[in-house]
Amino acid sequence: EFHIEDFKRELIDGIREKVGDKQVVCGVSGGVDSTVLAVLLKEAGVNVRAIFVDHGLMRLDEGDEVRNNFHRMGVEIETVDCSELFMSKLAGVADPEEKRKIIGNLFIDVFWNTVGNAEMLAQGTLYPDVIESASNAKSKASVIKTHHNRVARILELQEQGKVLEPLAELFKDEVRELGVSLGIPSDILNRHPFPGPGLAVRCPGDITEKKLRIIRECDDIFIGRLKDYEWYDKVWQAYAGLIPVKTVGVKGDERSYEWAISLRAVVSEDAMTADWVELPPALLRETSNRILNEVDGINRVLYDISTKPPASIEWE
Ligand code: XMP
Repeated sequence: EFHIEDFKRELIDGIREKVGDKQVVCGVSGGVDSTVLAVLLKEAGVNVRAIFVDHGLMRLDEGDEVRNNFHRMGVEIETVDCSELFMSKLAGVADPEEKRKIIGNLFIDVFWNTVGNAEMLAQGTLYPDVIESASNAKSKASVIKTHHNRVARILELQEQGKVLEPLAELFKDEVRELGVSLGIPSDILNRHPFPGPGLAVRCPGDITEKKLRIIRECDDIFIGRLKDYEWYDKVWQAYAGLIPVKTVGVKGDERSYEWAISLRAVVSEDAMTADWVELPPALLRETSNRILNEVDGINRVLYDISTKPPASIEWE
């Protein structure tokens, strides 16, 4: 029989043995996996620095929310604001894999450079991430997407035995259970998953500040309505993604010719498969009205009714 407390103790013993007195660097994003990892490392008492890299691809006010959450848990994190660096490297890049690789590799460089004497990199990789990456590694033809935990820079470190992934045998629900036993508040554990490459994977084509602003504002309205209607906790993940295709509309008395936004809400067990959610029409209507009234640059709101497979949860 599986006991989370025993499992936690085993994990902690394993971490202490592997790390010894080495300097560990751990990237935190505010997401469940990296949060549980950071708290676990702290609990293990190893020498760790938790770094929050703000790549400029976060949601509205997300940086403050993340810092506030760690403050509540009494875990010290260091913020590195790299938005300009990321935006300059991403300028004009439209290919999804290209974007993922740039972001993933840059992440590692930032961690490594911030902590000058880092000897190990800790990542909150879960079992499903390992499976998807393994199938990716086997054959070039079957690459679905490069998970940010498996970019070239990481593989290099991995070969040198410098990557620590204590959660690699767990599914998301088990990570949440571990989080409960570590005393992490439930609102933090129940945050929707958010991908490492952030809003980049919800922004097809090249990334610009204008596109990011639109995605942020729409996402904030949508997530706010989900919370108001008490649907946030009933869905696995929800977000607004940009469709950078212009269509014709009317705003006031004038013709508009603007982009569309897509809303997606899914339920899932482990992110390997997913189903779209039949949200209440009133929630969708209010979200759509508010987006069309409040967000500059959008004249059309669409709801994504695609299962995974064949669609993925994110856009890229
Ligand atoms: P897809 O789009 O592959 O997403 O159906 C499955 C789940 O994984 C998240 N996701 C990521 N998480 N790094 C992450 O930490 C990534 O590179 C990444 N790509 C996708 C996605 O948000 C969904 O929950």
